[in-house]
Amino acid sequence: MLVCRTFSELSQILLSNVDRGKTIGFVPTMGALHKGHLALIDDCNLKSDVSVCSIFVNPTQFNNALDLEKYPRTEEVDIKKLKDGKCDVVFIPAVSEVYPDSKKSVLSPKLDLDGLDLVMEGEHRPGHFDGVVEVVSRFLSQIKPDFAFFGEKDFQQLAIVKHMVKQKNFKTEIVPCPIQRDKNGLALSSRNVRLSSEGVKIATVLNQQLNWAKEQIDSLAIKDIITAVKIALEGNSKIELEYFDIVDSKRLKSVQTKKKEIRAFIAAHVEGVRLIDNMALM
Ligand code: PAJ
Repeated sequence: MLVCRTFSELSQILLSNVDRGKTIGFVPTMGALHKGHLALIDDCNLKSDVSVCSIFVNPTQFNNALDLEKYPRTEEVDIKKLKDGKCDVVFIPAVSEVYPDSKKSVLSPKLDLDGLDLVMEGEHRPGHFDGVVEVVSRFLSQIKPDFAFFGEKDFQQLAIVKHMVKQKNFKTEIVPCPIQRDKNGLALSSRNVRLSSEGVKIATVLNQQLNWAKEQIDSLAIKDIITAVKIALEGNSKIELEYFDIVDSKRLKSVQTKKKEIRAFIAAHVEGVRLIDNMALM
């Protein structure tokens, strides 16, 4: 596996492959890699000839300085995991490499995200998606991969990236990958390492509530499911609920009536760690 830290180094490696007709797959990450990330690498290896994984803790997508500071950084272990996962190239740029222009947006005027950025994560983490769209578009325009792989764990991010790619006419195909969970159902996340073993147990309640919502979807009205989940979570003193909603999977707007593609989304804090999860209900 090759390790490179600049766009020019990476372009050289990729160009020689593109010239030989190889397809390039790209998996952007912020490191602290777990089996969820490695499943993306597996999908990438299956679909593309050359797999590239980036590790970059993107400062522009953190709306909370403490969250950025506390974000786990485990570069050496990550490199080993990627090597074992048969990744071909890992790209680990410095902040000054990605933002030589001191983080001035290349997306000016601001991209119209069709309201996808105004709900749920967008509402609770103002500016977050502007940072995500900024960094992903910088990566895609330099790396020019044939495919880029995104987890449904961050379903709203995936929807926004798909929208951005269409708007900017990038030639990259965005490939969605299913959520990877631990044996108790907790969605794998880099933030989980900050939970105690007791915290992990408490956090599994989030997935249990999503499962419960799915089980009830044929028998209860949507508003009653939302009320019941909120009562259950707000009654748990160890969980601080940020939002729970059932939305249209495409437009991400709240729905009142049942239809084909709807999804439940949840965000909550456990032991001071912010966790998100989601599940298709129909
Ligand atoms: P990060 O949180 O490191 O996640 C990188 C990719 O891994 C994302 O596409 C995310 O959805 C996916 N992922 C994380 N946990 C997963 C799980 N349990 N199952 C399946 N996929 C999972 O998302 C980001 O980084 C950043 O916003 C980024 C896109 C890299 C831009 O900075």
